[in-house]
Amino acid sequence: MKTFTQPGDFPLTDTWSYLNAANVALMPMSATRVMTDWQTDVAQNGSNNFNDHAEDTAFDGLREQGAKLFGCRQEDIAGGSSCSELLGSLAWAIMPQQHENVVSTSIAFPSTVYPFTRVSHHTGCEIRLAQGNNGYTSFDEIVKNIDHNTSIVSISHAEYTGGQLYDLTALAEVAHAHGALLIVDATQSAGAIPIDAPSTGADAIIAGGYKWLCGPFGAAVMYLAPHLQNTLEPGFVGFRSHKDMWDLSPERLDYPETAKRFESSTMAFGCIKGLEKSIEYLTKIGITQIYNHNIGLADRLIEGLSSLDVEVVSPLNLSERTSIVTCKVRGHDPLEVVRSLKERHVVAHKRQDFLRFSPHVYNNEADVDRAVSELRLLLTTGR
Ligand SMILES: Cc1ncc(COP(=O)(O)O)c(C=O)c1O
Repeated sequence: MKTFTQPGDFPLTDTWSYLNAANVALMPMSATRVMTDWQTDVAQNGSNNFNDHAEDTAFDGLREQGAKLFGCRQEDIAGGSSCSELLGSLAWAIMPQQHENVVSTSIAFPSTVYPFTRVSHHTGCEIRLAQGNNGYTSFDEIVKNIDHNTSIVSISHAEYTGGQLYDLTALAEVAHAHGALLIVDATQSAGAIPIDAPSTGADAIIAGGYKWLCGPFGAAVMYLAPHLQNTLEPGFVGFRSHKDMWDLSPERLDYPETAKRFESSTMAFGCIKGLEKSIEYLTKIGITQIYNHNIGLADRLIEGLSSLDVEVVSPLNLSERTSIVTCKVRGHDPLEVVRSLKERHVVAHKRQDFLRFSPHVYNNEADVDRAVSELRLLLTTGR
């Protein structure tokens, strides 16, 4: 199996089998350095280097890398502090009304739904959750919930528990046929699954930085379709919301006519720089290459797990899979299993009642084999 990373990029992988990108991924050292250098510079030099111009252009690099990541124009990209923040601003911008509904799934991560729940407390719009089971929701179940009163379909591209992947193009078609927008939370997919945003038809795609994008906490990236860039009024605004952020007149608020209108304020800019660098790291390797690598590791993991007393609950068909491999460990508390594995320097995670592995670009076959053999030892000997 080809290795894409260089020695020293992810020091932990020298000694640990870290299979937990769906929770918090490792960050390449090059991105870590950019982030800490920025913070050190501002701490020690104040605005000498991070001056008005630098602050104005702080997101430009992320825009460039985000455009490569999502196959779109730089104007279609905005940065923010978290997926929840950008989704919240979008939710208030669209603000579905009382007779309208928002469709998501009952197995979605709360961040995909809560921003709309909050709006529903204000406007009375209905939140409809397509019923999922064991981390899986059928496409038909989602479609059944969409009608001509649907304002938004808000979906997690890959579900966080079992990694189920949805067909965004098909979802966008159904949403649009009903006059609804498709908003995608790609926090569990961007960086690991190729996404050509314009061709999916999605109206917005948002990803937090600290999972598959191998970036830091405190940074997120959003694709906003061109047709929304001069129509939506962001829910959250600040002095940066004005198209000339140094205009500084409280008497007028003229938004940029690009996705940038969703960038509202000061933030931990070093995190944006770190995310820019981590996306660059991944796109230089190629997201398709990463996808193939990760699926290869997931295949090996699933094969290894098949010899143990566990039941894999993640989808197995290629069109609905990611490299998230989630299983039920019979007769064992998954939290205890996670703890014991960690003592052996194998990192997995508990989600719901399951044990979840999520290999990424910095993992190799040895990591997977070690995880399987340590789990085998644990399940057979209790040690
Ligand atoms: C699908 C999904 N969306 C969003 C988040 C968290 O988003 P943020 O912390 O950027 O608000 C998570 C975290 O697990 C997630 O799995």
